[in-house]
Amino acid sequence: MEKQHSPARPYTRKRTPWKALGKFTLVSAAVLGLTLTAAPSAMADSDPDPTIRELADQAGILFGSGSVKASESTADDRPPNYFSDPRYGQVLSEQFNSLHPENELKWNMVEPEEGVFDFAGLDRMVAFAEEHDMQVKGHGLISSAFNPDYLVAKTDPAELRAAMVEHFTTIMQRYKGKMDRWDVVTEPLSVYGGTGIEPDIFSERLGPDYIAEAFRIAHEADPTAKLFINENLVEFFPAKRQELYNLVSGLVAEGVPIDGVALQMHETLAAPTPGVLTDIVNEYKALGLDVTIAELDVHTYDPIQQAQIYGDVVAEALAAGITDISVWGFTDKHLYTWLPGAKPTMYDEEFNPKPAYFAVREALRSFVYNPSAPGKGKLSSGTANRDHDGDYTVTMDLRHRTPGAFFRLYENDVLIAAKPLNAVDVSTQSVVTPITGKANGKYVYRAELINSNGTTATTKTTVVVKHGSP
Ligand code: XIL
Repeated sequence: MEKQHSPARPYTRKRTPWKALGKFTLVSAAVLGLTLTAAPSAMADSDPDPTIRELADQAGILFGSGSVKASESTADDRPPNYFSDPRYGQVLSEQFNSLHPENELKWNMVEPEEGVFDFAGLDRMVAFAEEHDMQVKGHGLISSAFNPDYLVAKTDPAELRAAMVEHFTTIMQRYKGKMDRWDVVTEPLSVYGGTGIEPDIFSERLGPDYIAEAFRIAHEADPTAKLFINENLVEFFPAKRQELYNLVSGLVAEGVPIDGVALQMHETLAAPTPGVLTDIVNEYKALGLDVTIAELDVHTYDPIQQAQIYGDVVAEALAAGITDISVWGFTDKHLYTWLPGAKPTMYDEEFNPKPAYFAVREALRSFVYNPSAPGKGKLSSGTANRDHDGDYTVTMDLRHRTPGAFFRLYENDVLIAAKPLNAVDVSTQSVVTPITGKANGKYVYRAELINSNGTTATTKTTVVVKHGSP
């Protein structure tokens, strides 16, 4: 009855991965002594209707859904067990290779009374994941909300610390080898940033070092797990982004066992400024840390704008090297939103894919489509060399070479433009970037084209502005 973009199919169905197909085609052509001219045409017979999961597997990344609920409890004011609708589990296992809970690992849900743990829903989730060959992520060992009264009553730091050890150890050992990565601390900073660590029972009783302590306790509980700090809105508020960076680089300097930063990315009416996500990834990479996307969803009322934002975020994330992306729920039937009426996920209430679904899929598809790294594009700089004024364009042209799925432009080594490209069945690409209001000076431009096989630098172009803006 319900409309499906493709017939229901179990994930276990084996297909020839595109990359393998591409390599096979190239190798056999070489053996036969043939010359292949346009690489993209080697892919022309690939699957026109892949799932997100198939593409993610091909790219070698995790693409998951968080905000999954399998328990019958309604103590979190959520409907019980989303899996009671078989369509839920079907789409989840068909489209994603990872999952994580919405509230079931929050303290008041998993340990509602001291020493009494409720693992029913989590066990069901883990069993589902095993059955469908999916990864499970742990989410929310510590957060400022969701703390039961018995915990709030522990005003003695030593008692609170002991409760953390008991809580983390019981949970993490139970799911050792099953939940291999964790958001240990969620939302330690104030919403808009700029005011330091948010007061809560942990920071008030243990001081700001509670974060370092939490990571140490988690590492002790499961030394094999990867541990992340989860925060929101840093992609929108530069001061908060800096604050998180200062906090995390401090942890790294102290030798705290932290593996990375989990960006929530609950987006609203606008996408983050292009390039910001890339810069964030590079900042943390320089500290030896990973960046993941933990809770992507888009709260707009316009499905087309929503699709654009979803697609742009995923395309930039892939090009930046993020290998772990989760959405915060996938159907508007079960969603988290603070905006009344917003429908922030990729599927509607009836499990039909929305434009956002196709945008995400296209971003992944474009990224993995071609069997080799992009060709070398040529950069040129519009009218600048003639007029030497401060307004000109920088153009990248690529002809009859493997296309890129993402474009990055640097001016004097600073990233100034970042843009997803369609790399599916095209052999010519052109990207025009307008530059305005430059002061006199010399500007060296270089760019990069990126796909899942690599990053290729374009030629450089230099603009000397002599009659520029004051
Ligand atoms: C949300 C849940 O989705 C809601 O059900 C709950 O009422 C509040 O918390 N960032 C997080 C998540 O890290 O744990 C939050 O989940 C959403 C924001």
